[in-house]
Amino acid sequence: MEIIIKEDYDQICEEAVKIIHRAWKKKNDLVLGLPTGRTPLGVYKRLIQLYQKEEIDFSSVVTFSLDEYLGLKENHPQSFAYYMKKNFYQHINLKRENIFCLKGNPEDIDRHCQEYEEKIKSVGGIDLQILGIGRNGHIGFNEPSSSLSSRTRVKTLAEETIEVNSRFFKDKNEIPRFCLTMGIGTIMESKMIILLASGEDKSKAIQKSIEGPVTASVPASILQLHSQAKIIIDKKAASRLTRKKYYQWVYKNKEKVNEFLEKKK
Ligand code: PGA
Repeated sequence: MEIIIKEDYDQICEEAVKIIHRAWKKKNDLVLGLPTGRTPLGVYKRLIQLYQKEEIDFSSVVTFSLDEYLGLKENHPQSFAYYMKKNFYQHINLKRENIFCLKGNPEDIDRHCQEYEEKIKSVGGIDLQILGIGRNGHIGFNEPSSSLSSRTRVKTLAEETIEVNSRFFKDKNEIPRFCLTMGIGTIMESKMIILLASGEDKSKAIQKSIEGPVTASVPASILQLHSQAKIIIDKKAASRLTRKKYYQWVYKNKEKVNEFLEKKK
């Protein structure tokens, strides 16, 4: 795991965009896995700006959404399909046929989840999966106790997740209790994973994910087993890490290691 501690939210978004941009330059038909929520908004905003400056082109990019509320139609303002369209897709030149979302109202849920998995495989897998993290350590909607090898499926939202997300709904009774989410096993097959976190309210989950044991009780802790996982967090989210100085030291010296390796070639 690479732990990158930045000053603030703006800087973590900048860092994530730099990595996405670099990945796109290497592979224009990049397959991205994308989350919703408050955290990735700054990333989408910056990617749109890059597109407007003609520094990135999404015409060959393929995207998969990480999760969706069950029971909400695509055009419901709180659906994740709507969020992605409003905050990202409608501002860039991604092709309609290259956008894959989990549906909130599929006819056959199991078949829909299975087909989503197959679709991911058919495009060669996800190159770069972006993740947020819940205060309870969830990734996607894989709540604590989710199997660490789970695939795309229905999940029941944890009470704390419903509570946190209730701010987006006028009527509390309208908040979905169930969702579809890529599984932890699905996420772990991505070639690279970036997890973003900002703010004090994420600091406990971040500390447990990075420094605690790998456990289904903290789903994000599974990233310790991924060879290309980058955890990009601001100082507040990093505030409870016990080895913060060490991570900063490693990050600071990374350039030097790269220079050394370049010279050896
Ligand atoms: P947030 O959500 O970005 O809105 O904090 C993250 C998550 O729940 O995964």
